[in-house]
Amino acid sequence: MYSIIFNVVHVSYKVFIWKSSIFFVTLQKIIKIDNKMKLPFAESYKIKMVETINKSSRKERELLMREAKYNLFNLKSDYVFIDLLTDSGTGAMSDKQWAAIMEGDESYAGARSYYNLKESIKEITGFPYFLPTHQGRAAENVLFSSIIKEDDVVPGNSHFDTTKGHIEFRKAHAVDCTIDEAQDTNLEIPFKGNMDLKKLEDVLKKYPKEKIPCIVVTVTNNTAGGQPVSMENVKGISFLAKKYGVKVLFDSARFAENAYFIKTREKGYADKSIREIALEIFSYGDFMTMSAKKDAIVNMGGFLAFRNEQDWQNCQMYNIMFEGFITYGGMSGRDMNALAQGLKEGTDFDYLETRISQVAYLGKKLDEYGVPYQRPAGGHAIFLDAKKILTHIRKEELVAQTLGIELYLEAGVRGVEIGTLLADRDPQTRENRFPELELLRLAIPRRVYTNNHMDYIAAAIKNVYDRRETITKGYVIVKELPIMRHFTVELEPAK
Ligand code: F0G
Repeated sequence: MYSIIFNVVHVSYKVFIWKSSIFFVTLQKIIKIDNKMKLPFAESYKIKMVETINKSSRKERELLMREAKYNLFNLKSDYVFIDLLTDSGTGAMSDKQWAAIMEGDESYAGARSYYNLKESIKEITGFPYFLPTHQGRAAENVLFSSIIKEDDVVPGNSHFDTTKGHIEFRKAHAVDCTIDEAQDTNLEIPFKGNMDLKKLEDVLKKYPKEKIPCIVVTVTNNTAGGQPVSMENVKGISFLAKKYGVKVLFDSARFAENAYFIKTREKGYADKSIREIALEIFSYGDFMTMSAKKDAIVNMGGFLAFRNEQDWQNCQMYNIMFEGFITYGGMSGRDMNALAQGLKEGTDFDYLETRISQVAYLGKKLDEYGVPYQRPAGGHAIFLDAKKILTHIRKEELVAQTLGIELYLEAGVRGVEIGTLLADRDPQTRENRFPELELLRLAIPRRVYTNNHMDYIAAAIKNVYDRRETITKGYVIVKELPIMRHFTVELEPAK
């Protein structure tokens, strides 16, 4: 009897030990899995070709800056170490784009490359009609020649300078309806590029629809800091446009970056692809202009696209006059081929994540150093808040331009002023327009620089920031053109 009891207890004990050892091994496995390292972020491409960039001494840069009349556009790029002047046409094309270039069809009319591009545009934007142009402003020129007359009114969210230039050149008026929150650089809201629907409706109520050729929706809103427009806002704009019988134009230079922000920030879009979101955005528009030098990652190119055949036909004459025949419009066949491919790559989620994370990385570095910039970090650029950095410079002495010059002198990093120079003079009074914000834009070219370059840029900015109190004199204008003066303006140090 005792031996039976002993055997039962003994066997049960062994089973217990065996079971618990399985339990502990499994537990260990689970714990191990939990301890597994989360893979860090890494670029979704590798580098096949490199290009040397040159360092220079501060002495050299001082001389060059003087020779350039303190206009960063006048600098020779050989003397710029990291060039953040623009993200336009400065991206690195892919192997597939270069391969597409070799297959370009250079026929004057009806080129295969034209049809490749037509197909790509239809697939990504949904617009069935299009005209190629040599870049974005050329598309604006063609479209506005057809639709804008003297004294017309064109509401929008911070019209880009060439867009505003083309409107004002036709003696029409660009009315900015951007939300007021965009002026507060400290405020972190997800869609700071939005239009204020109340401001928009006021304009639509005030003028007859015959005076309003279109509403311009810029995605992303470049001037406000590369800030996105939400789908909800796009829907609201479209609703008002329909209510008042006015057309909607998308200025689409950075539409894919805008779609990325909608996917990652707006409720209901997390599971949609970038392509689906882009198609939805464009479904609310009548036409689009595109500077393909941005989100289509080509070095030159653009187009305008239409939903309606009549609008397309109305623009054809201007396209032929200003750009070229309607199947090449200022582009070579090889360039149209590279663009057709670039539109597809530019709307790839992994690529967009890589790009936008790099801009955010630079933003984080600046946070560590306490440097103020338009928050949150934009899609294509960081916009330093120059007024908050150079508090001793009077607005007449060009605050953001002064910061741009200081950053170049410090480390050979070139940004661009988004401030008084860019704002031009009032077309009627010819007085300087002093915008609320004085920003120095640091635009990051696509697939070009590494995060080591971002560290270098951040350190250069920190050095200027640390000596900001000693910068007390800015610059004054010596020579300027009547429109878009910032490109060619000549300056001298203020006395
Ligand atoms: N629209 C937007 C929103 C732009 O940012 C630009 C150009 C254009 C239109 C005009 O296109 O240069 O191809 O003629 N922006 C560049 C920049 C120049 O640096 O932001 P483009």
